[in-house]
Amino acid sequence: MRALVTGASGFIGSNLVDQLLAEGIAVKCLVRGSSNLAWLKDLPVTLAHGDFRDLDSLARAVSDVDCVFHVAGATRASSRAGYFRANFEATRNLLRACEKHGPKDQKFIFISSLAAAGPSSGAPLTEDQEPRPVSAYGASKLAAERAVLEFSRQRAAAIIRPPAVYGPRDRDTFLLIKSINRGLHVIPGRDVQKVSLVHVHDLVTGILLAAAAEKSRGRVYYVCGEGHHDWRTIGDCIGKALGRRFLTLNIPWWLVRLAATGGSLVSRVTPSSPTLLNLDKLRDIRQTQWLCSNERAKAELGFQPALDLATGLADAAAWYKKAGWL
Ligand SMILES: NC(=O)c1ccc[n+]([C@@H]2O[C@H](COP(=O)([O-])OP(=O)(O)OC[C@H]3O[C@@H](n4cnc5c(N)ncnc54)[C@H](OP(=O)(O)O)[C@@H]3O)[C@@H](O)[C@H]2O)c1
Repeated sequence: MRALVTGASGFIGSNLVDQLLAEGIAVKCLVRGSSNLAWLKDLPVTLAHGDFRDLDSLARAVSDVDCVFHVAGATRASSRAGYFRANFEATRNLLRACEKHGPKDQKFIFISSLAAAGPSSGAPLTEDQEPRPVSAYGASKLAAERAVLEFSRQRAAAIIRPPAVYGPRDRDTFLLIKSINRGLHVIPGRDVQKVSLVHVHDLVTGILLAAAAEKSRGRVYYVCGEGHHDWRTIGDCIGKALGRRFLTLNIPWWLVRLAATGGSLVSRVTPSSPTLLNLDKLRDIRQTQWLCSNERAKAELGFQPALDLATGLADAAAWYKKAGWL
């Protein structure tokens, strides 16, 4: 089997590449001229240089692979148009390339996001519920999902919706782990926010199960770890993993909004390096519940998360220490 991975230079994509190689699958990675290849440089992969706006480069990339793992996407952008370019238009162009130039029996796996469905209220979300994204990021991922579902009428394609992902190489959760390592755990607001999470190794397992399963065609799957977590519990697990005592500080929403406004302004001035926190991200962060159910992934794919929260965060903390990030 030969696979194409887009977004291979990033956190999730590079972890997926490692696992594909471990399973003896030949891997081609779609990268840009500007991509940081740190996670790929010593690996036996083929690099396909391209861009989602360059249809010829996409045609070459997809023409000889059995499965396309479309992981590339922007989790931060300076404008709504920026999210739609990186998440929707890129996916649409890649699908067009697969339709025209890919083998007929090629499989397409799209890494979407829980943000495409929007927040939960009460019970964890299931895949049958009507999506209600609250951010431009979520709306752009949902638009991409709709293009993938349309494509799945002709070809085999499936959608994975992860909640927040953590684990080796993640730069976002690292900020939280670094802060707790320094003795401070900052929680926005006073409400108890409940979230689903997934360790990147469990997510990769779910992605590969969806790629292998016949019945995943045209299906959406939440691939998440067990349990519902709040930021205090998450902080406690990190503190325990690091062997650190820390202070927990709840900061008021007006201050978070101020920081997000600053982030949006800075991102507008430097659109090529958008900030992690901005007003669009705030719409997602402000919600009190981001819970999803992995029951369909278990029933149809045989998915079973291997890492509970404490073990997963301990694994991540150990990786950051070993890599010299802490
Ligand atoms: N991390 C999470 O918690 C999470 C949760 C749910 C869903 N997701 C989804 O998972 C996917 C990967 O996320 P990640 O956390 O691994 O992000 P990441 O580390 O920032 O990696 C993003 C990858 O996408 C590529 N990319 C971004 N914008 C691009 C563009 N306009 N054209 C071509 N390539 C582009 C990047 O390539 P360059 O190196 O060239 O920039 C990079 O390889 C995204 O689609 C995201 O929506 C992530």
